[in-house]
Amino acid sequence: MKGRFITFEGIDGAGKSTHIEAVAEQFRALGHTIVLTREPGGTPLAEKLRELILHMPMDALTEALLVFGARRDHVSTVILPALARGDTVLCDRFTDASFAYQGSGRGLSIDVLLQLEALVHGSLHPDLTLWFDVSPAIAAQRRAAAREADRFEQQDLAFFERVREGYRTRMSADPGRIVRLDSSMPPGDVSAQISAALESRRW
Ligand code: TYD
Repeated sequence: MKGRFITFEGIDGAGKSTHIEAVAEQFRALGHTIVLTREPGGTPLAEKLRELILHMPMDALTEALLVFGARRDHVSTVILPALARGDTVLCDRFTDASFAYQGSGRGLSIDVLLQLEALVHGSLHPDLTLWFDVSPAIAAQRRAAAREADRFEQQDLAFFERVREGYRTRMSADPGRIVRLDSSMPPGDVSAQISAALESRRW
């Protein structure tokens, strides 16, 4: 694979979406061709699945199967071709979110998630993951100011504590890939942390 694959993670309201476009601009300035995408979503089929995942009641296994179904379409028709061309793929959430939300948040078995991950994207892993970490209380305040809540955003603080723990566990297992950003800081400070994380690598 010639391209680079960078993912953005965090609990709902962590503020990651604010920063993705700025990161895209930084890479464009370095001459990279950018594919900016998101999960669940990023293809017509996966965007349809996203609507179901965010709004229809379902159990944790169904949720995981739909998320990974969407991911399969996205990986095979968008992400892998872009990386093969040498593009830089910036993806708003990826499989770390499944471990954090369906695994830690909903209590689905990590073994099941590992099997789905192996089946759907075997050896593809992000080169870098920026984890926008913030307390569930701050994130809830930001969400309340911003938008109407979907099925995940309606969950209580305890759910988001578990999701945050899920991200922490993923980072401990793969500290070279996942960089934690203190997203409780003002946007300018978070941008500086992002720049430091990007500059510490050779792109
Ligand atoms: P997000 O893209 O943050 O939506 P928005 O900022 O538009 O509200 O997240 C969509 C939701 O999907 C989020 O609540 C987390 C959830 N999600 C999972 O539960 N598992 C996954 O694997 C992914 C990718 C997302």
